[in-house]
Amino acid sequence: MRRKKNLILQPVLKWAGGKRQLLSQLEKFFPKKYTSYYEPFVGGGAVLFHLQPKKAIINDYNEDLINLYRCIKDNLEELIEKLKYYETKNDSESFYEIRGVDRTDEYKKWTPVERAARLIYLNRTCYNGLFRMNSAGQFNSPYGSYKNPCICNEPVLRAMSKYFNENEIEFRSGDFEDACKDAPKGSFIYLDPPYDQYDEQMNFVGYTKDGFTREDQTRLKLMCDKLIEKGCYVMISNSKTPFIVELYSDKTKYVTYTINTVNARRNINSNAKKRGEVEEVLIVGKLDIEK
Ligand SMILES: C[S@@+](CC[C@H](N)C(=O)[O-])C[C@H]1O[C@@H](n2cnc3c(N)ncnc32)[C@H](O)[C@@H]1O
Repeated sequence: MRRKKNLILQPVLKWAGGKRQLLSQLEKFFPKKYTSYYEPFVGGGAVLFHLQPKKAIINDYNEDLINLYRCIKDNLEELIEKLKYYETKNDSESFYEIRGVDRTDEYKKWTPVERAARLIYLNRTCYNGLFRMNSAGQFNSPYGSYKNPCICNEPVLRAMSKYFNENEIEFRSGDFEDACKDAPKGSFIYLDPPYDQYDEQMNFVGYTKDGFTREDQTRLKLMCDKLIEKGCYVMISNSKTPFIVELYSDKTKYVTYTINTVNARRNINSNAKKRGEVEEVLIVGKLDIEK
């Protein structure tokens, strides 16, 4: 299943909850063999690009993000050309002008590649790489004032395009449950949902205009039960809140979960005081009795 890794391949976006710093801790839990890889909350794709599976289904609710991956696969040269143009636009006035396009009718006429280039530009130049949307689905992170942001990371974009084109990678955009419906026995599903917050009121996580509630966390756990019963390998990342620990301590007839604590440095938080060490868990599901 695995092949020689291309070490240049890494996320092209800064993404809240990105897993790059945790990879060395996650590594030992990954299954050695699996038929296909599913990542229904792919975000920046740190785990995908680390594992580089030959067959993968990647999904995110965020359509702009999935559009970007499709463009990297199919329209690379045009995308690079547009990003080179954006490299000349790292100033506050241009930023707010480009950010404001999704508030106009003109944006509806933009091509997928134009949208993809704008997403990378905003992600690299906005404050803290925070992909945040308001309730109308408009990008609303402020300008970051970075001196030399890497807007066109050509080697990484080329490596990613090659990886998508030389392997069987399918892109989906929708809810995680739909994305995992056809996962066959023997596949590996890594789930990295928006994290549960200690304070339930905080469970609006701004990646999409809809939040991710505790009902969604419960729905996800029930889906994992079914996937494990089917014979899939399942791993889930989340924050170590009492709610999550209790949810996954609930044993079903066939499935148990091991909750491993891993520490992570969270870099993306608009409140500087909240940045720093946050306890996270990596939950590994196991089928107890062969059905
Ligand atoms: C914690 S991030 C994933 C981070 C990713 N593992 C990385 O390394 O960058 C969670 C992702 O879930 C997506 N998301 C939120 N609600 C979703 C849903 N109901 N179904 C699928 N994806 C969803 C968000 O758009 C976001 O990209």
